[in-house]
Order: sequence, then C-alpha cells, then structure tokens
Amino acid sequence: MARPVIRQHSGQINVTFPLKTDLATSYSITQQSDTLTQQHKHTALDRVMKQLDLLVGLNNVKDFVYEIYAWLYITQCRKEQGLKGAHQTLHMIFKGNPGTGKTTVARILGKLFQEMNVLSKGHLVEVERADLVGEYIGHTAQKTRELVKKALGGILFIDEAYSLARGGTKDFGKEAIDCLVKAMEDHKDEFVLILAGYPKEMEHFLSSNPGLPSRFPVQLEFSNYTVSELLEIAELMVFEREYELSVQARNKLQHFLAAEMRNKHQNFSNARLVRNLIEKAIREHAVRLLYHPNSSKQELMFLSAEDFVPLH
Ligand SMILES: Nc1ncnc2c1ncn2[C@@H]1O[C@H](COP(=O)(O)OP(=O)(O)O)[C@@H](O)[C@H]1O
Ligand SMILES: [Mg+2]
Repeated sequence: MARPVIRQHSGQINVTFPLKTDLATSYSITQQSDTLTQQHKHTALDRVMKQLDLLVGLNNVKDFVYEIYAWLYITQCRKEQGLKGAHQTLHMIFKGNPGTGKTTVARILGKLFQEMNVLSKGHLVEVERADLVGEYIGHTAQKTRELVKKALGGILFIDEAYSLARGGTKDFGKEAIDCLVKAMEDHKDEFVLILAGYPKEMEHFLSSNPGLPSRFPVQLEFSNYTVSELLEIAELMVFEREYELSVQARNKLQHFLAAEMRNKHQNFSNARLVRNLIEKAIREHAVRLLYHPNSSKQELMFLSAEDFVPLH
C-alpha cells in the first residue's frame, strides 16, 4: 500500500493514495527501487520498501536497508558465477531515544534477512537487562544462552544494552556480555544481534568495552523526530485506525508536542508519545459519545481537541 497523502483543505482532511510514480519523486530510494524492479525481480526489496515507505522520515535508515539489500543481492549473483561472496557481519548498534522507530525497523530487517536467506526465520526476540541477567553465579549465562537459542534464525534485540555494564566488573551484566560475545562466535551466521539504546549511553558503553565496536560494524542513528514529522506520524496512526483529526485537534497536538519536546529533552518519547496520546484520545472520544447513540459516521470518526488530554 502506498503511503496516503494527507492534506487539509477548508477544515477538511483529505487522504488520497498517490500513484507510485508520484511517490517516486518524494524519495530517492523508492525511485531507484522502482527502476530496478522494472528490470529485475526485486520482490524482497519491493516488499521491504513498502513497509519502510509507511514510516515517516528515517532516510538514513532507508538508505542503509537499500544498501544492505543491494549487497545481499549482488553477493548471491557473484556466488552463482562462482565468485567469492565476501562475508559481512550484520550485528548492529541502534542509537536513538525512545520511540524513534528502532524496534519497528529491527522487525522489518528481520523479514528482509529471512527473504534473502540470511536468516532462516527472521523473527525478533526483544529483551532487556532483566531478561538476561540472573541472580546467582551461572544463572546469567543460563538465561542468556536460552534467549540466544530462542533467537536462532532471527534477531536478538537488546534494548537499553548499556545497562548490562551498569554495575561494573562484579555485576552479572558483564557475564551476559561475555556470554553474548561467545554466542556470536559459536553461532556465527545463525542470528543477528542488535544492541539498542540512548545515543550517549551507547557510546559510553562501546568505548568502555573495547572488544565490542569491531563486532558491530553497523551503527545506525535514529534521530528525534521534528514536530512536523510527529504530526505526520499522528495522521498516519489515526488513518490506520479509521479516525480523523479535526483541525483544532491537530493544532492542539502540535502545541502539546512542541512543549513536551522543549521540556523533556532526552526523555521525550517521540512516536511512542504520539501513539499513547492518540490511544488516549480514542478512549476520551468513546466516553464523549457513549450517551449519544445516534452519532453520525462523521462524529464516530473525528477526534476533536477536547479528546486530547495529558496522559498523567
Ligand atoms: N517513522 C515512523 N513512522 C510511523 N510510525 C512510527 C515511526 N517511528 C516509530 N513509529 C511508531 O511509534 C511507535 C514506537 O516505535 P518503536 O519502533 O517501538 O520505537 P523504539 O523501539 O525506538 O522505542 C510504534 O507504534 C511505531 O510503529
Ligand atoms: Mg523499542
């Protein structure tokens, strides 16, 4: 599905699905992949790009996925011609604040790797410190090994990975890191490890574990969204749920997001905050209409400014 174009006109919001050729001008990768798909059958790329097209912004991430696809595809072509397929490590670091799309992108990458036969299953196992670190000697290695086993054929995604180094050398987090490094060698090519977290903390984590950076040649930055990107994300989220934003609701959301962004800085949770605000607005809207059984289709769809309330 092509990304809908959302326009406001005389107080109405129009959502239209552009022709693919229109979309191609908006984003260079789409343009390139369209040209390629006409010449070759790049169905895996086409599918992954359709999913990425539904994500607002993230151009560096989209460029990276395109590059990785090209490399995997050409490696396959070279192997068919009896040439060496240079090995590349696909373990990655995702640096970004909460709600910047890290988990969403990891899930899409899993599917791409599966389609390209890099991974047999392509599923995502998402864990955090508490899932890996145990309470007594040996417990951590056991927990970590079990999760690696679960992730074989897919991606092991460790959120807030820097917290593994939190307690210094005596902490069991260190044991989890050692166990992960061993698993990367024992199960080479059987799973992809993604370490994710706040940019500053991840940089500190990598610099204090000198053995690690070379094992993670790919580092992707997930920037904070701008207010206008967040509004575009909001429009997409309400559209997917078959709701619409009134002009006043959109304005209120815009002001609220700008203020939150100023006040919260590092703790600002980007698209996740937008999703939570919309889900709350949908419940407020339901309460508002509960005793209006004859609500019109229009009323059942429009979220108004009064439905957008602070979360706490
Ligand atoms: N660029 C984007 N466009 C549309 N929705 C997005 C985008 N980035 C994130 N989201 C949505 O925001 C929510 C949080 O994203 P997530 O991937 O969990 O962020 P993170 O893992 O960085 O905390 C999800 O519902 C996701 O679908
Ligand atoms: Mg996440």
